Amino acid sequence: MLIARTINDLNSARATLGSAIGFVPTMGALHQGHLALIEAAKANGAKVAASIFVNPTQFGPSEDFTRYPRTEEADLEKLEAAGCHLVWLPDVATMYPPEGATAITLSGPATRWEGVLRPGHFAGVATVVAKLFGQVRPTHAYFGEKDFQQVQVITRMVADLLLPVEIVAIPTIRETDGLALSSRNRFLSPEDRARAPMLYATLRSAAAHIAAGEDVTKTLETACNNLSAANLTPDYFNLVDARSLEPMTIFTAPARILAAAKLGPIRLLDNIAVG
Ligand code: PAJ
Repeated sequence: MLIARTINDLNSARATLGSAIGFVPTMGALHQGHLALIEAAKANGAKVAASIFVNPTQFGPSEDFTRYPRTEEADLEKLEAAGCHLVWLPDVATMYPPEGATAITLSGPATRWEGVLRPGHFAGVATVVAKLFGQVRPTHAYFGEKDFQQVQVITRMVADLLLPVEIVAIPTIRETDGLALSSRNRFLSPEDRARAPMLYATLRSAAAHIAAGEDVTKTLETACNNLSAANLTPDYFNLVDARSLEPMTIFTAPARILAAAKLGPIRLLDNIAVG
C-alpha cells in the first residue's frame, strides 16, 4: 500500500495506479462502515485510493474538531488489510493554502436538515471533496448512505461543476442491534449505548407505517414522542423526497426518512428508505 503525505508523493503514487481509480474520502477513525466503501471500490475492479483528513472547515466553532478521534496507525493497518492501494494523508496547509480565497457555495439538497443545524458544514464538505477529487483524480468515488444528505450534496455538486467522477452510494453498515456504525459512537456511555438502537428501530417502524398508507404527519409525531420518551432528543425526523430532500406530507416514492437525535454528548444521524 502506497502512503502519500505530500503532493509530490501523491502524484508519483497516482501515476503508478493507471487511469481507473475508486476513491474513498474519510476523516479516519475507520470502522466497518468505511471498509465497506473500500470493498465496494475493490469489487468494481479498479485500483482503490482512500484519504484520511479531518477537515477543519466542516466543523462549527462549538463542534468537536479537536476531539475528533485520530487513530492513524490503526487506520493504516485496516486499509492495508482491506486491500487499499493508496492512502492520501494531506496536512491542513496543503488542503487550505494560506492565501486561499475560494470555496463552494451550495443550495438545493444542502439547505435543510444538517444544513440548518450545522451552518457551513456542507460548504466545508463540498469544498474539501472537490479539492480531493482534483488531487486524486478518481473515476469513481464511494460515499455512505449513513450520511444520506452528504451523498445528495456531493452528487449535486459533481453534476453542477461537471466533474468527471461517478458517485456511488453504499448502504449503511450497522451493529447487530441496528445502530449505524459511526466514529463518534465511542463517546456514548454504556447507558446511552443501550438506548442508541432506538433511533433505527423507530425509523423502521415509521417507514413500515408510512409504506402501509398511514398518515405521515401522525406517524412522524408518534416517532418523535417515542424517541423523547427513550431520552433521545430529536433534532428532526422527517419524510423527504429522496433526491431533493424537500419534506413531504403525502408519501410518494422515492422517499426517505431522515433523522437526527441528541443522545448524551453526541448526535446520532440515521435514515431509511420508505417503500
Ligand atoms: P467520515 O465521517 O469519516 O465518513 C467517510 C465515509 O464513510 C462517508 O462517505 C460516510 O458516509 C461513510 N460511512 C460512515 N459510517 C458509515 C456506515 N455506518 N456505513 C456506511 N458508510 C459509512 O463523511 C466524512 O467522513 C467527511 O464528511 C468527508 C466526506 C470525508 C469529507 O471530509
